Amino acid sequence: QLHGQQVTVHTPPNITGHWVSNSCEVRPGPEFLTRSYRFFPDGSFQALQFYYQDPDCSKPSYSLLIRGSVRPLRASWLVRGGTASEVHVSRVQLRCLQTACDPPDTPAPDRSMQELTLMRLELRAEELFLGDVHTEHAQPAGYQSPLRSAKAERCGVCRIVSSADLHHPPVLSARPERPVRLQGDWVSTRCEVRPGVLFLTRQLTFHEDSQTWTGQYEHFSDPVCRHPTFSISASGRYSRGAPSAAIGGAVQFTFTVTHMTVTPMDVATTSLLNVFRGRECGSEGSWQRGVPQDVTSTSGCAALGVRLPHTEYELFRAGQDPSGHSLLYNGQRPSDGSSPDRPERRPTSFQPPLIRCSRGGRSCQTDWPSSSSTLHPDEERHTQHCHHHHHHTCRVGI
Ligand SMILES: *[C@@H]1O[C@H](CO)[C@@H](O)[C@H](O)[C@H]1NC(C)=O
Repeated sequence: QLHGQQVTVHTPPNITGHWVSNSCEVRPGPEFLTRSYRFFPDGSFQALQFYYQDPDCSKPSYSLLIRGSVRPLRASWLVRGGTASEVHVSRVQLRCLQTACDPPDTPAPDRSMQELTLMRLELRAEELFLGDVHTEHAQPAGYQSPLRSAKAERCGVCRIVSSADLHHPPVLSARPERPVRLQGDWVSTRCEVRPGVLFLTRQLTFHEDSQTWTGQYEHFSDPVCRHPTFSISASGRYSRGAPSAAIGGAVQFTFTVTHMTVTPMDVATTSLLNVFRGRECGSEGSWQRGVPQDVTSTSGCAALGVRLPHTEYELFRAGQDPSGHSLLYNGQRPSDGSSPDRPERRPTSFQPPLIRCSRGGRSCQTDWPSSSSTLHPDEERHTQHCHHHHHHTCRVGI
C-alpha cells in the first residue's frame, strides 16, 4: 500500500462511469451515508445519496436522487491537483424510508452537489475524489473519502451500493464495535490534503502508559507529496474522555501540544521563516534549509500558524482495512483552517485513516515521494504554497 505506489492523475478527468462508496461514510454533523454516482459521456449525471440513522449504514432513513450536469472548467486554484467544475442540478427527488423523515438542508439544489465543483481522478486504484462537504457551507477545500469504480474487484460494499436504487437503499451490516486503542505507531496511507492548500503525511506515536504522544508531519507543496516544504515534530500529552454520543464506537480525547521542532525543507520556507519578525518562530534570522530548530521557547511558530501550548478537542475511531490491518481515524479539521481548540468545535467527522505499523514488521517509513505521477502542466506552473500567499490560513494540527 505504501511502497512502490504509482499515482496517475488525469486533468481534466474523464469521469464517465459508475462510482460508489466502499464504506459507510461520515460527514460533519454527523451524517452517515453511501453514494452511487453515474456520469454519462454527455456530461449529465444521476447521483444517488442514501442517508442512515447509524454509523454502520444499517438503518436507512432517506434517499436522494439528484440529476444534473457537470463540466470541468480548469485546474483548481484552491486545491492543487484538483479540477474545478461547474455544476447544474436540474432535479432532486427525496424518498423517505422511515415513518418520519427529517432531512437536513442537503436536498437544497445549490448545496446537494457542491462536492462536484472539485474533483480528482486517481487511476492507480480507480478512485474518484470529490470535494469535501462542510457544515459551514464553504467551497470544497479538500476531498471526501474517494468513490471506487462500481467494477472494482474485492469490494463487497461496492457491489451492495452499486445495485441499489432510490427505493431500495443499500443496507450494510452492523459491525461489532472496535475498541479505540491508540498505543503504538501509526502512519498515513496516502498523501493527504488539508483545507488551506497543505499536502502532508503524518506519523503518530502514542504511549498509553504515560499518556504522551509524538507526531511527525511532513508538508509538501504538491498533491503527490514529492516536493517537501517543511516538517514539524510535535509532542505532548493526551487524555481519554467519554465515548461519543453522536458516533457509536468513537471516543473523545483531549490533546495538548507542548513541544515543537520545525525544519524548513525548501528555499521558500527557509526565507519565509527568516524574514518573519518579532522572535515569534525560533531564533530570528537563523533558519537554514534542512536544519531543525526547537520553537518551544517562542511558543510555537507564528509564521506557520502554530501556537504553544495548544489544546485540541478530538474524536477518534478504530477501523480495519480489507487486508485486516488496524486503522485509526481522528477528527476532520474545520474547513476555515482553524483548529478544534474549544469543546464545542470538536469534530463530528474524520480525516483519512492512519494505518498501524510495527518496527520490524510493517515499516513505519512512508515511501514518499511516490515513484511516478503525472500532473497537468498548469498545475506544475501553478505553485501555490500556503505560506507564500495565504500564511494566515495555514494551520497545522494533529
Ligand atoms: C470518456 O470515457 C468513455 C468510456 O469510459 C468514452 O465513451 C468517452 O468518449 C470518453 N470521453 C472523452 C472526452 O474522452
